[in-house]
Amino acid sequence: MSEPLLQVDGLCKTFHVAKSASGNTRLKALDGINLTVGRGETLGLVGESGCGKSTLARTLILLETPDEGTVTFEGTNPFGLRGKELLSWRRRVQMVFQDPFASLNARMNAGDIISEPWATHRSLYPSSREREARVRELLHMVGLRPSDARKCPQEFSGGQRQRLGIARALALNPDVIILDEPVSALDLSVQAQILNLLNDLQQELGVSYVFISHDLTVVRHVADRVAVMYLGRIIETGATEEVFDRPRHPYTAALMSASPKLDVTGAKRDRIVLQGELPSPLDPPSGCRFRTRCWKAQDVCAEMAPEPRVTAAPDGGLRLTECHFPLETVQGLTGATATAG
Ligand SMILES: Nc1ncnc2c1ncn2[C@@H]1O[C@H](COP(=O)(O)OP(=O)(O)OP(=O)(O)O)[C@@H](O)[C@H]1O
Ligand code: SF4
Ligand SMILES: [Mg+2]
Repeated sequence: MSEPLLQVDGLCKTFHVAKSASGNTRLKALDGINLTVGRGETLGLVGESGCGKSTLARTLILLETPDEGTVTFEGTNPFGLRGKELLSWRRRVQMVFQDPFASLNARMNAGDIISEPWATHRSLYPSSREREARVRELLHMVGLRPSDARKCPQEFSGGQRQRLGIARALALNPDVIILDEPVSALDLSVQAQILNLLNDLQQELGVSYVFISHDLTVVRHVADRVAVMYLGRIIETGATEEVFDRPRHPYTAALMSASPKLDVTGAKRDRIVLQGELPSPLDPPSGCRFRTRCWKAQDVCAEMAPEPRVTAAPDGGLRLTECHFPLETVQGLTGATATAG
């Protein structure tokens, strides 16, 4: 992995909600998240709906305050910062949201949307001439025209609005951009254009991405490394090819097997159909959180949460897996279908 830029350690976030059937009111959306993002790399974040991806994204850009844990950016944890130091931190980690229709203020024109963050970060472009020039430059960078600065969001197509969202995220010259399902609201040809744009910008600016997506094909295409999330925890990380082709956690294996078209080796991969739904984070299973759906579960899985195991991958990178009985090879999947449905 490239040099770590952003490091997340033991991050926990609890929401207080209406009582569940068992009387719980504490919903632990994040339960001890550890991950790193390297300089200039794309970390793909995958997992089922409700597993906590957006909560993690919102915590990384300080929209949520964690109960515990740290997010360290170049050695600084933002949660104790105030004033200028906090502003400076916020500038460096930005976000692009899923829905380009909802995430832009319909009453502002594109120029105002892009320059809005500079009202807070005044020292970046102090004069109106500098701000106007930078708006034009940013529009150009994302493939829009200078005259688009005067248009309002509803005058743009979905793809153009997402370009505008990316220009807004770039306005503060961030080091990391969190992309929460950035292309899932777009049709396929527009998705490809936006993914190419993100790639070009990364090459040009060296910015890091945390790329959240349900679409494994897209993640395989864009990510250098992948983190797999299940019920508030990262249960597997590693280089993209490693995680896709040689999953070690049974949940990752099930996710990947649901996308047989991803198997570029041509080898036949058994489909593992997971039983049941993602359990509620209000009442998570004891021990390993995946045990209620895992075909490899044994008694110890209910008694003890697995510790993260770090192993070296053949490419020299590190793999992290949270499982008492990790799969050793892709062939380890054989036989899983009998119990996994
Ligand atoms: N503000 C909130 N108050 C209470 N519960 C919340 C809040 N935000 C998220 N949750 C709960 O936290 C859990 C994680 O939600 P989150 O939106 O992070 O999931 P996700 O992985 O992004 O899902 P999706 O793929 O559907 O976007 C869910 O159970 C959700 O209901
Ligand atoms: S720890 Fe046990 S239940 Fe959890 S994934 Fe591994 S084998 Fe399955
Ligand atoms: Mg989400």
